[in-house]
Amino acid sequence: MQRTVRIWLFSVLALVAAAVYLGPTLLNVVPKSGAHGSGEALIGGPFTLINAKGEQVTDEAFRGKFMLVYFGFTHCPDICPTTLLMMAQALKTLGKEAAEITPIFITLDPKRDTPQVMGTYVKNFYPDLVGLSGSKEQIAAVADRYKVYYSLVKNDSAMGYMVDHSGFVYLMDPQGKYLTHFSHTMPLQAMVSGLRKYVY
Ligand code: NI
Repeated sequence: MQRTVRIWLFSVLALVAAAVYLGPTLLNVVPKSGAHGSGEALIGGPFTLINAKGEQVTDEAFRGKFMLVYFGFTHCPDICPTTLLMMAQALKTLGKEAAEITPIFITLDPKRDTPQVMGTYVKNFYPDLVGLSGSKEQIAAVADRYKVYYSLVKNDSAMGYMVDHSGFVYLMDPQGKYLTHFSHTMPLQAMVSGLRKYVY
């Protein structure tokens, strides 16, 4: 064989070998397909936070019911109140299945949103809405588990800063496993029928 052909052949073989060897490794970078056929199955997991009474609560405290989880902050001027109202509206529309769901609002701004502030704030939206706060570290940990993006952004308002954050509403099953998520940008009826699809 000519030298150039040999080099060419060797290169191709090396590439094939690399693909065979690295393929599975590269595939692992892509979110794994879970029981629900999507990488989002990795969303959620254990957490320890603080309820309105100042008690430490873990995710285990919510077993046996579905969790409808939303992250935000009480100083949020628009998206958070809109989303919380939508969750409340969806639960009211749902009827008796709503009793199987615990709606939870977790703050991304624990400095201002103390457990007591959260407890008072959630009452504006829905009687059974649970407000949870925690230490900065506890909040960072639960946000990380739920793949929630958030970032403190300084501004000139009297409040001093805002929290830029992603705004999905997560539905978790009675064992705490991720089922699906919703967004305030979808019609209310889509959230209601989405809940109906999973909640029994
Ligand atoms: Ni918000």
